Amino acid sequence: MGISMLEHHDDPKIKIAGNIHYLWVEPEHRKNNIGKTIVARIIQFFKENGVNDLFLDYNFGNIEAEKFWGRLGYTPGIIVARNSIKNIEKKL
Ligand SMILES: CC(C)(COP(=O)(O)OP(=O)(O)OC[C@H]1O[C@@H](n2cnc3c(N)ncnc32)[C@H](O)[C@@H]1OP(=O)(O)O)[C@@H](O)C(=O)NCCC(=O)NCCS
Repeated sequence: MGISMLEHHDDPKIKIAGNIHYLWVEPEHRKNNIGKTIVARIIQFFKENGVNDLFLDYNFGNIEAEKFWGRLGYTPGIIVARNSIKNIEKKL
């Protein structure tokens, strides 16, 4: 019904931080608290491993992700941008 991919690593600034790389719930099961239940399990895992802060990323314009993570108190922090070399050269 749902799946997530995690990573935890040492961060010199925050001491210990974790990453949620992916969280996915099958469309027909969405809005049934499955996402929140998976996040609760993720948190349990990270707490057991001494992690205090969790980073994650999602694509700009992913309204579902924005709403879901926004409800859990996340606000965007880092912008990752992409452009072709050809286009950059035109603008230089
Ligand atoms: C984002 C995603 C994981 C949410 O899973 P879900 O099981 O539907 O979420 P939940 O039912 O646990 O919802 C938790 C809260 O978020 C809100 N929410 C979830 N999806 C929402 C949406 N599309 N619009 C508005 N609110 C939404 C719920 O209403 C609920 O609010 P509440 O706490 O006030 O009750 C799911 O939509 C998904 O798999 N999307 C595709 C993959 C993706 O974009 N993943 C995120 C990037 S990593």
